[in-house]
Amino acid sequence: MSLDSVSSLRVGIAGLGTVGATVARHLLDGAVSNVVVTRVSARDASKDRGFDMQNIAFSADPLKLATADDVDLVVELMGGQDGAALDLVRAALKAGKPVVTANKALVAAHANELSQLSANTGGAVVPLAYEAAVAGGIPVIKTLRQGLAGNQLQQIAGILNGTCNYILTRMDEAGLSFEAALQEAQEKGFAEADPELDVSGVDAAQKLSILSALAFDLRPDVSAMAVEGVERITEQDISFARQFDCVIRLIGVSRQADGKVYQKVTPMLVRKGGALAEVSNELNGLLFTSQPLGKLFLQGAGAGGGATASAVLADIADLARGDGQALFDRATADMTASASHQAPESEYYLRVGLADKPGSMAKATQILAENGVSIEEVVQRASNDGDGFLPVVFITHEVDESSLDNALKALQNEKNICNGVLSLPIFAD
Ligand code: NAP
Ligand code: HSE
Repeated sequence: MSLDSVSSLRVGIAGLGTVGATVARHLLDGAVSNVVVTRVSARDASKDRGFDMQNIAFSADPLKLATADDVDLVVELMGGQDGAALDLVRAALKAGKPVVTANKALVAAHANELSQLSANTGGAVVPLAYEAAVAGGIPVIKTLRQGLAGNQLQQIAGILNGTCNYILTRMDEAGLSFEAALQEAQEKGFAEADPELDVSGVDAAQKLSILSALAFDLRPDVSAMAVEGVERITEQDISFARQFDCVIRLIGVSRQADGKVYQKVTPMLVRKGGALAEVSNELNGLLFTSQPLGKLFLQGAGAGGGATASAVLADIADLARGDGQALFDRATADMTASASHQAPESEYYLRVGLADKPGSMAKATQILAENGVSIEEVVQRASNDGDGFLPVVFITHEVDESSLDNALKALQNEKNICNGVLSLPIFAD
């Protein structure tokens, strides 16, 4: 149905959790003109969602929203890469109904099919809007599609997961354990239904793959990306980072050079004073480098009901004005395939467990030197573990990824002097 053929846009919302219920409440309060919520779906029909559902139809089966005569626009806020969310979005697009979603897992995993369906169903574009899928309330999709249109993107570096950023901030500033900080993030509604997606870095990777598609015409493929989560970061790493005047942040980088796009999600040390170091709690932050603009930094709430609802409402407002687009500006078949490429040279933080006996430090530095890894700084701490190994941190000069990998393998093979290594790149603004 054409949106301008109806006087009020009739919206059906599937999912009434942290995000869906907030969106519904704001729409019912009149946040977007000429929009009315006619139908909703959730698993539990009896749950209080904080708004009056008397005049709104309830469907136990979310798929009904794709076919119901009283729904012009489907808002998918159930989550999940496949299952009910995929069935609904697919059916709505096939029925010619525009869709708004906050579901980055779905968009990243099914970009090819959804791009095709939204670009051409029955010979027409059926809009698929997903501003809320990346960086919560920050209008990053609009920034890439509109604000930076005509720019040549060189790099996007961003804090894209509010839960991880919240965990790292709370461990640093409030001395919380990883588990306690994650629990707080879950209680505040920042985490995914399966928080493993957050802490493993996969959620940030899904978001980065969407940004890379828009910025570099790269077909989304998280499996082709190097992804490391925050699970191995200890309170000790956070304290070491502080000693080097740095914080640890989970950062996604997508960078184009020499005709290739390098993508990676990993925790990094970020020097205090830099823009990304100041991004705390559930905030997200993105640094774009492009020509002719140069640098652009955006920061805002990256998770939570209010922030995410803000982006969903903006998409609904666009569609109510008849302003909608296909998933991407070009077919994914015409995009470049994602591939893994060597990381650019970087300084690294290496935390090594070294045996507390003569010669181990000399052996470790020899291995690093033999593999072309040059040391800028070393700090050794007394250990409380009583296992005979001391935590030692090396800050390296810039080194290429393959030299570093060789050095780390050689160190890990020396079981008598080394009981594990954590390596984190140091972010260069
Ligand atoms: P949530 O709180 O877990 O809510 C999910 C909602 O979907 C619930 O209302 C649930 O019903 C409903 N639901 C799940 N499966 C269903 C099914 N098969 N049929 C009908 N209803 C079903 O999730 P959320 O945090 O709002 O996240 C929703 C989406 O937004 C996800 O894609 C997420 O990745 C994305 N997102 C979330 C945030 C955030 O900060 N939370 C930020 C950006 C993007 P019941 O309530 O009855 O169980
Ligand atoms: N779980 C996600 C996060 C929600 O913490 O960033 C926002 O996409």
